[in-house]
Amino acid sequence: MVKEKWWKSSVVYQIYPRSFCDSNGDGIGDLNGIHSKLWYLRELGVDVIWLSPVYASPNADNGYDISDYYGISPEYGSMEDMKALILECKNCGIRVIMDLVVNHTSDEHPWFVEAKKSRDNPYRDYYIWRKGQAGGPPNGLKSGFGGSAWEYSEETGEYYLHFYHKKQPDLNWENEAMRKEIWKMMNFWIDMGIGGFRMDVIDVIGKIPDQEIKENGPRLHQYLQEMNRETFGDKNLMTVGECWGADIENGSLFSDPDRRELDMIFQFEQMLADQVPGKQKWDLRPLELRRLKQAFAKWQQALDEKGWNSLFWNSHDLPRIVSRWGNDREYRVQSAKMLATVLHGMKGTPYIYQGEEIGMTNYPFSGIEDLVDVESVNLYHERKRAGYREEDIMKSLRAKARDNARTSMQWNGGREGGFTEGTPWYRVNPNYREINVERALEDPDSIFHYYKKLIRLRKEEPILIQGSFLLLCPEDETVFAYMREWNGKQWLILCNFYENPAGFSYSGKGRVILSNYEQDPVVGLEQVKLRPYEAIVCEII
Ligand code: NOJ
Repeated sequence: MVKEKWWKSSVVYQIYPRSFCDSNGDGIGDLNGIHSKLWYLRELGVDVIWLSPVYASPNADNGYDISDYYGISPEYGSMEDMKALILECKNCGIRVIMDLVVNHTSDEHPWFVEAKKSRDNPYRDYYIWRKGQAGGPPNGLKSGFGGSAWEYSEETGEYYLHFYHKKQPDLNWENEAMRKEIWKMMNFWIDMGIGGFRMDVIDVIGKIPDQEIKENGPRLHQYLQEMNRETFGDKNLMTVGECWGADIENGSLFSDPDRRELDMIFQFEQMLADQVPGKQKWDLRPLELRRLKQAFAKWQQALDEKGWNSLFWNSHDLPRIVSRWGNDREYRVQSAKMLATVLHGMKGTPYIYQGEEIGMTNYPFSGIEDLVDVESVNLYHERKRAGYREEDIMKSLRAKARDNARTSMQWNGGREGGFTEGTPWYRVNPNYREINVERALEDPDSIFHYYKKLIRLRKEEPILIQGSFLLLCPEDETVFAYMREWNGKQWLILCNFYENPAGFSYSGKGRVILSNYEQDPVVGLEQVKLRPYEAIVCEII
């Protein structure tokens, strides 16, 4: 039998270092802070940690604007601290995945500092420069953070492309010398003993700006294959590509093992189920469960044989799932566990974002002065200018702002939730006395202990890794139910997504494997009445 890749049975824990744990009282989380919490990650049972960027950066986008790929930002520690962390993780059986941000650099990266000096500078072509049109930018490409994607550069009278902040100029992947620099840098990190890479907006690197092509450009897969060959291809690492633009037609190209590109993709279709189709994430509408189920089912099937999915609800870019599609008040615990069950029951590699495992919630922003993220601040001003009402803008921000995910990790009920002894760079959610790690560890019924069970189950039960997926009752608007099947076994995953009781029926009986409510060891499935946010995993007998 072919041995399965290790990352198929792994669970990844994403750390946003800035907000995780501050070891030196400067209010900013750091590498030694992470080091000091490895016991906690071991207790939870995760196999991999993905670190959001810790490289040198002027922080226009909290580290996603890198000025030195070989240097650790002093606010996070030193290269020695990084090596010590990797080593200690290794001793604990945890692999460290680095964030690879190579669609763009910081404008303070030495390549860009050179590139903007003159049109014939050797680094000029590492970036994308065009002449303006009729006194304005070269074309209508927009930045993900609002406004034009082109910025005028005084020195040479041309515009450069930035799909994100103007301090994040896009690299020109058509330049071979630039690509070679990237391979060299990736190999540097591989040699340091990391477990792999999470690749930031990787589906954008093949852009053709003149044709306004952003995602899935014609040479994208060629670049990924070259990357695979030149760096991690034969190293048994884990690689995951963030792809906002993937659809099922092109999605399997990234992670089909025969194509030798990446191991899995991180795509977002399921996260669109509460926005007006074709509009921005800020254009809200209530969750449509049918749409959510459909999106998951489509991807489960598309990558069933050829390719591999990432399973996630949260990241540093998304609001807290328990506030979004659960109930962060009277059913916080039940709904957080239900959401965890739906996700961890599927096929793919699950990701847990820091604090999700204790049911951390969105932040109660009262006004724009409570937000710091560039995306939200720009959005606020853009919509103000466009005449939106203050209350509507704030409603969108409360629901979707990235700052919801970036508040301090809540370790205990003490000052600042135990995150720092100083003044935090951002802030702690006022509910930290009730929701924190210390309390979660003490309570055997906590969300934390439930996640722990789900993680263990994945280690013990190959059906979760290999089993096929079949969506049941796709039209039902309240119940998310599906079947996993493997080696003659059938597991039913049954979840009520709402507070109102819901009915479900299936023939036969189920031996209960896990639930967020007390259950008899065997349940009849003919006429199930699901309680608020009830979740059951059972084996059909
Ligand atoms: C995606 C990252 O996850 C996000 O945080 C960042 O702002 C953009 N890429 C730009 O790097």
